[in-house]
Amino acid sequence: MRIVSGIQPTGSLHLGNYLGAIRNWVRMQDDLATGNGDNGQCLFFLADLHAISMPHEPAALHAATLEMTAVLTACGIDSSRSILFNQAQVPAHAELQWLLNGTARMGWLNRMTQWKDKAGKNREGASAALFTYPVLQAADVLLYQATHVPVGDDQRQHLELARDIAQKFNNDFATEDAPVFTLPEAITPPAAARIMSLRDGSKKMSKSDPSEMSRIELADDADAMAQKIKKAKTDPEPLPSEVAGLEGRPEALNLVTIYSALADTTPDAVLSQFGGQGFGAFKPALAELLVETLGPVRDRFVELRQDREMLDAILARGAAQARELGVPTLDATYKALGLVRG
Ligand code: TYM
Repeated sequence: MRIVSGIQPTGSLHLGNYLGAIRNWVRMQDDLATGNGDNGQCLFFLADLHAISMPHEPAALHAATLEMTAVLTACGIDSSRSILFNQAQVPAHAELQWLLNGTARMGWLNRMTQWKDKAGKNREGASAALFTYPVLQAADVLLYQATHVPVGDDQRQHLELARDIAQKFNNDFATEDAPVFTLPEAITPPAAARIMSLRDGSKKMSKSDPSEMSRIELADDADAMAQKIKKAKTDPEPLPSEVAGLEGRPEALNLVTIYSALADTTPDAVLSQFGGQGFGAFKPALAELLVETLGPVRDRFVELRQDREMLDAILARGAAQARELGVPTLDATYKALGLVRG
């Protein structure tokens, strides 16, 4: 089992990232350590190369990369058990992307919903990196022969593309009994694969939403978290006793989903407790649970972010390990393509 996943170091970690992905990273890492999973290896990385596909401020990206290293460590990623690194420190990601550009098809990339959403109407003005971004993402996981990739729902399509690229490359340049790439599988959490904005239940919670009230950030203090939940959009109806009764009420469904994910239970179990009550009762309970769960993570983060030397050391060590692990696949890819390297 080889588990690989990444997060862009842009902005602060939000509740969608945490419940949709990072908490699963930590659980998969811990399962491997306790022998609940097969023997295996976890690699988690800051996708800073992905972050330059959108307009960005270099100093902010630099700072955010170190901050996100502190965030992941505070969330429970343990660099002595998992390989925690930064993409730019492992040149093989960009190298493999170029090699895979020969296999990826323009039509495949054109169908990516994230490309369509982020480029919007201004495709001519979008960066080439935004268009080829999913090929870099494929390289990220294929480089390490990932078997499992824990992500939120919005990344599933990119993972499908990584499988298509791997399959086509294997077909075109390898034999069936000696494929160059392993086909990775996306792992999404049952309840929290898509956490929505607190201001609009039809949009996902996102770092790029201009309204800070739309998302809970790990860096928020207890008051800010409680305030955001209090102000979250809802409707005047009381909560139903079963999740089926939330149809057509996306904001209410989102809050119940968040509660169930934090409490590690199902939305139906939450509604069996709160059914019949209004948001006046539910919101304070949710805020309390949120502060209880994220408060300790936030405190660890505030402490760790000060220790620049330790963060640099984590990234340097992780990069050295990742560079070594990527060598066989990169070599095999060059060879399969007939490229002469001396
Ligand atoms: P990014 O940085 O946008 O998000 C990191 C992780 O958080 C998940 N996520 C969510 N989950 C539930 N609800 C939400 N509202 C929500 N918002 C974000 C994402 O699905 C993701 O798992 N392209 C990736 C980073 C990446 C990557 C990779 C991931 C680069 N290379 C290789 C996996 C494997 C991204 O921008 O995620």
